[in-house]
Amino acid sequence: MKSMNKTILITGANSGLGKEAARQLAGLQETERIFLGCRNEAKAIAAKADLERETGRSIFEIVLMDVSSVESVRSAVTGMNQPVDALIMNAGGMGGKAPGQLTSDGVTQMFAANVLGHVALLEEMLKAGKLNQVAVFAGSEATRGVKKMGMKRPTLDTGSVEELATVIDGSFFGGKLDPMQAYGYIKYVGTLWMSAMARKHPHLKFITMSPGNTSGTAVMDDLPFLMRGIFKKIMIPYIMPMMGIVHSVEKGAHRYVTAITDPQLKSGVFYGSRPNALTGPVMDQSTIFPQLNDQRIQDNAEAAIHQFVR
Ligand SMILES: NC(=O)c1ccc[n+]([C@@H]2O[C@H](COP(=O)([O-])OP(=O)(O)OC[C@H]3O[C@@H](n4cnc5c(N)ncnc54)[C@H](OP(=O)(O)O)[C@@H]3O)[C@@H](O)[C@H]2O)c1
Repeated sequence: MKSMNKTILITGANSGLGKEAARQLAGLQETERIFLGCRNEAKAIAAKADLERETGRSIFEIVLMDVSSVESVRSAVTGMNQPVDALIMNAGGMGGKAPGQLTSDGVTQMFAANVLGHVALLEEMLKAGKLNQVAVFAGSEATRGVKKMGMKRPTLDTGSVEELATVIDGSFFGGKLDPMQAYGYIKYVGTLWMSAMARKHPHLKFITMSPGNTSGTAVMDDLPFLMRGIFKKIMIPYIMPMMGIVHSVEKGAHRYVTAITDPQLKSGVFYGSRPNALTGPVMDQSTIFPQLNDQRIQDNAEAAIHQFVR
């Protein structure tokens, strides 16, 4: 049966895919309130005004949170005065200007913004009875490797708690974290954690959904100068469209809408594009990368994360 999502919290909702998802969800009659989880108040106020103007609905509310900080998301949950039906954990990306730098929680900036704060957020919401139905984590095809973009599939040696903890604190990557390679590993750990959560909480739905390779967002803005230039000025506007491996922000964000509304999607599964594709219909990514189904590695990822979320 299709479940109704009357209230939704979206992190990283002031731009890109998060903001577009908010716009599309406001177009559904069942949506009564959308909470915009943002770290920057001025940007959040501007996004809220845009969304109200574009949708003609006054259903948006700002929830200030920096998802790279456990403390910040916990205090945001305390301030929430009602539960939500759906949570879309979309904030993140390449980890800012210093993706390998450690936060006060002892994890890399890239891990903090994509995963650590979301773990604290979702778990705090569950503890407080503030999530009713479904949680979605923004995954990426980088987790099963993207040959066309030079992103190798993550390979772990043993998949132990200790090894996964090194992905989280950055030591796995040696002295220098290459954002294009680390990104797939970091989304991998988040995806494994979602699958572990699905087994622990069978009454709720946990979906990892990749929005696909999406143009028109700021996700590549933090890459080193040369790489950013290649992606933003050449690859995304010219080469990728020619190769058919990039789609619009509307299509990317629609995948989140599908994730919270499609009753066919199964809890604990990571959905993304078909083999060798980065756009188009979505499918269970474990058919491409079977290790995603390894319950031992899923549980180890959860245990490794909890060495840092205390
Ligand atoms: N675009 C793609 O091709 C693609 C593909 C696969 C997966 N994804 C994933 O999709 C998600 C959204 O990406 P996007 O392309 O829409 O990128 P974007 O335009 O850079 O948007 C990212 C959003 O996350 C917010 N954010 C970042 N760090 C945050 C933090 N610590 N606390 C709170 N908010 C934070 C940003 O806020 P500020 O404005 O304050 O920085 C911004 O609103 C990311 O998780 C990304 O990894 C994107």
